[in-house]
Amino acid sequence: MDRSIRSIRSIPTELSGLAEKLIRGRHATRAFRPEAVPEDTMRAIFSLAGAAPSSSNTQPWHVEVASGAARDRLADALRTAHAERRTSVDVPYSEGMYSRAHQTRRAAFGAELYGALGIGHDDHTARTAYDAESLGFYGAPHAAFLFVDGDGDGGARLAADVGSYMQTLLLAMTGYGVDSCPQGLLSFYADTVRAELGVTGGSLLVGISFGYADETAPVNRVTTERAPLESTTTFHG
Ligand SMILES: Cc1cc2nc3c(=O)[nH]c(=O)nc-3n(C[C@H](O)[C@H](O)[C@H](O)COP(=O)(O)O)c2cc1C
Repeated sequence: MDRSIRSIRSIPTELSGLAEKLIRGRHATRAFRPEAVPEDTMRAIFSLAGAAPSSSNTQPWHVEVASGAARDRLADALRTAHAERRTSVDVPYSEGMYSRAHQTRRAAFGAELYGALGIGHDDHTARTAYDAESLGFYGAPHAAFLFVDGDGDGGARLAADVGSYMQTLLLAMTGYGVDSCPQGLLSFYADTVRAELGVTGGSLLVGISFGYADETAPVNRVTTERAPLESTTTFHG
């Protein structure tokens, strides 16, 4: 890269501070107040999320948002599916997909989270009970379900586009003062979500619970570290 261009680009712009605030101001929220997000705010957020980039502008996502009675019915159905051990995934999952470094980070995160919840390291019963409880969207009044649109090949590539949509959506929520938690756990009940919301196609990638944080809940004070820049990023040239 031309050095003059690089040095020009490294000068902060009027957006740099806002970008820092927005990106670092987003955190996973795991306890919500019951107040609903106003409809016009909701529409503004989801319109903004649609500005996410995708390969050849294909926009291969489909979003289902559950609120009110639909949200309550879905939470009940998810708890029943959990009790009856009726899991179903569209996007394959295996513990083996995590490298040693990933496992170390997961363990550190688990220690933080369960520590904040007062659940002991080996208390598998309490951990499982917490998972079941989290199917109630952590008390959030809304849940969005992100589907990879279409039933063809190339799921991993299309999922990358939907990942781009997900982060754009989370940041749009942060910008509008709405708190969120992406929940991969919800994708383990794909058939239940589809049946309750009347969805016929696509693959469920992730659910996102959202609303307004209960600031008094200790679980919302969990902090997460990130790997140092050097361990994830290599600059060439
Ligand atoms: C794809 C994805 C799936 C996630 N699944 C869950 C989940 O099932 N339950 C949960 O409590 N948090 C879940 N999270 C939130 C992560 O634990 C959280 O983003 C991570 O620990 C970093 O913390 P932060 O979001 O507060 O920065 C998920 C996040 C992503 C991006």
